[in-house]
Amino acid sequence: MLSSRFLFFLSPILFLISTQSLAQPPDFRSYSCSSEKGNYTTDSTYQTNLNTLLTSLSSPFNNGNGYGFYNSSYGENADEVHAIGLCRGDVTGDTCRACLSNSTQKLTQLCPNQKEAFGFYDECMLRYANCSIYRAMETSPAFWLWNPYNVSSDVDGFYQELRRLLEDLSGQAAANGSLRKFAEGTTTTPNFQTIYGIAQCTPDLAEEVCSDCLVGAMGDIPKCCQGKQGGRVVRPSCNVRYESSRFYDPTTVPPLPSSSPPLSSPPPPPLSSPPPPSTRSRTVIIIVVPIVVSVVLIVIFFCICLRVRRTKKKLETRKLIPGGDDTDEIGSAESLQFDLATIRVSTDDFSEANKLGQGGFGSVYRGRLLNGKDIAVKRLSTNSGQGDLEFKNEVLLVAKLQHRNLVRLLGFCLEGSERLLVYEFVPNASLDHIIFDPTKRAQLDWVRRYKIIVGTARGLLYLHEDSRLRIIHRDLKASNILIDAEMNPKISDFGMARLFVLHQTQGNTSRIVGTYGYMAPEYAMHGHFSVKSDVYSFGVLVLEIVSGQQNSGFQHGENAEDLLSFAWRSWREGTASNLIDPTLRTGSRTEIMRCIHIGLLCVQENVADRPSMASVILMLNSYSLTLPVPSQPAFYLHSSIGMDMPLQSEYNSGATRSDRSKSNSVIVMEYETFTEPHPR
Ligand SMILES: *[C@@H]1O[C@H](CO)[C@@H](O)[C@H](O)[C@H]1NC(C)=O
Ligand SMILES: *[C@@H]1O[C@H](CO)[C@@H](O)[C@H](O)[C@H]1NC(C)=O
Ligand SMILES: *[C@@H]1O[C@H](CO)[C@@H](O)[C@H](O)[C@H]1NC(C)=O
Ligand SMILES: *[C@@H]1O[C@H](CO)[C@@H](O)[C@H](O)[C@H]1NC(C)=O
Ligand SMILES: *[C@@H]1O[C@H](CO)[C@@H](O)[C@H](O)[C@H]1NC(C)=O
Ligand SMILES: *[C@@H]1O[C@H](CO)[C@@H](O)[C@H](O)[C@H]1NC(C)=O
Repeated sequence: MLSSRFLFFLSPILFLISTQSLAQPPDFRSYSCSSEKGNYTTDSTYQTNLNTLLTSLSSPFNNGNGYGFYNSSYGENADEVHAIGLCRGDVTGDTCRACLSNSTQKLTQLCPNQKEAFGFYDECMLRYANCSIYRAMETSPAFWLWNPYNVSSDVDGFYQELRRLLEDLSGQAAANGSLRKFAEGTTTTPNFQTIYGIAQCTPDLAEEVCSDCLVGAMGDIPKCCQGKQGGRVVRPSCNVRYESSRFYDPTTVPPLPSSSPPLSSPPPPPLSSPPPPSTRSRTVIIIVVPIVVSVVLIVIFFCICLRVRRTKKKLETRKLIPGGDDTDEIGSAESLQFDLATIRVSTDDFSEANKLGQGGFGSVYRGRLLNGKDIAVKRLSTNSGQGDLEFKNEVLLVAKLQHRNLVRLLGFCLEGSERLLVYEFVPNASLDHIIFDPTKRAQLDWVRRYKIIVGTARGLLYLHEDSRLRIIHRDLKASNILIDAEMNPKISDFGMARLFVLHQTQGNTSRIVGTYGYMAPEYAMHGHFSVKSDVYSFGVLVLEIVSGQQNSGFQHGENAEDLLSFAWRSWREGTASNLIDPTLRTGSRTEIMRCIHIGLLCVQENVADRPSMASVILMLNSYSLTLPVPSQPAFYLHSSIGMDMPLQSEYNSGATRSDRSKSNSVIVMEYETFTEPHPR
């Protein structure tokens, strides 16, 4: 009884252990097995010692020296194994331990039976040997890695600055006062490119030894990485790296202490120091192991309980955080920041073939990250009029808006004059490519169309009321509704008003951004916008979905009438069914008629007569609810706005390449200042 209970109690732990051991650690950046330095045989004492040592090195209870350096030895005489693990200076805590844990698995896999081996990831490195490696400088094997992108211009200027930076960093890292033996910093080239650099030694090295190692590594830079935007030299005892984009997190690197030379002060005790003579060590192990095991189990159990509780508590926050699946560092701009180099690689350097569309805010490209994830990258036209910090803050806010009917903003990239927004990729085309296409439209039966209407309404309601910010979309239209593989609608391009300073400079002119045929009259004519102007656009969209016709460019028989006028006339005359797309042969007529009714209510001229999105959802959900009778909608197309407005071609974030000549146009015009409502 007890045992089955105990097993039950254990099962989550066993499950955890088994699932964790199934996951393969990622490949090293590079590694080396020194087979000429000797082999050990399987099941030898050396192997047992090595395994014990590596397990203790990456155990969750080993904190190393507290700043990412792990040094220990285990065994005796010829079977003594020595290991050193080192995380990049900004990588700490769990990430560091996870990286080392991966390294221990990977290295023994890759170098079976080799006494000496060395491997590294971006975040950490691990080496082990049968001889003492503590405080011994090892410069080979050395690895050279470079970024494939070339420095665009003024290579000499770039290199002069780079050398100055790396010399400076090497000095800082090697200095007696530097406990971590790590330094990071940036410099700016003559043509205003930022170079990010790091230099690092294993912290067991004395100043001059570390310095020698780094000087040697720096000397390799011109050989490996001449003309490249990024490069690194990795040696067992030290490494240097530079890139044109940030590849480390400077916020987790504490400032260098100015006093206390580290090597003269006693180093913190290693957590798994060499065991004392064998008889004692055996008894110690025999007694300690069961205690340790039970303590470990209890601790694991509590961790799991805590985790479960924390996950529950965190669920809400997690949902709000993009990329939350692989990082706990949430809410910081850095965690959402992508490298320009990564984006360049993923979009094949913004190749024309990957271009999905072009519009008022910039072009959109399709990309694929190294992990296989598809993304859509919006390359903003340079002048968003916002400072870097404001831009980052706004991205953070917009990225927190997450709903199944919104296209998810995954992050951004901000480098030099480049400003990119990275979105999840939505596989199907935008709605306009389907609903206004005579052949594709026929595939969209009423059930699917209704699902699109309801989904869009839900997404909009979230933006208006349920999210922490009150977001007014301002440019809701068929081409901003993307359709995913399951034909769910996802609203794109929301929050653009936050990411762009629409009131130019501090003056009192503003741009109105919206699309002909979808803009509420009060917005188009007076620049007044509110949630109700989005409701108007939604109404137009509903009527378009029902009829399969575009509001602007609507044709019915010989009458050159816009969709809204036609809808209203038909409604009044009791012939509203004329509005229904003839390809819709199935589906509930009552439901379709109700949608026309709701659409008309949304496009009422009087703002107060339009329902809120919450009411719209209610109307869609409850057939018993009696709808108000609509009055004449706003036909602003016939009013004061003429076609001589300055027009800007539309930005299309759809998945298919847009035909620019066919796309709707965006009205951009100067207007009086308006203010975005404040977050609630
Ligand atoms: C390490 O192993 C090699 C090859 O087995 C051996 O020649 C060497 O003496 C060993 N070094 C130490 C310190 O035991
Ligand atoms: C160790 O084993 C590898 C193959 O596994 C072999 O190539 C190498 O020569 C061996 N080294 C020594 C010193 O025996
Ligand atoms: C360690 O490996 C796991 C897969 O086993 C991977 O998910 C994780 O990202 C790796 N962590 C680091 C820091 O390399
Ligand atoms: C960088 O320049 C070299 C020659 O100088 C060229 O072969 C290579 O293709 C360039 N790489 C890129 C990514 O432009
Ligand atoms: C650093 O410490 C070593 C040994 O304590 C000493 O010999 C050396 O002069 C020191 N270097 C500097 C720059 O203070
Ligand atoms: C590292 O390991 C060596 C050899 O096992 C030991 O002498 C030294 O005290 C350890 N140092 C630290 C900082 O752990």
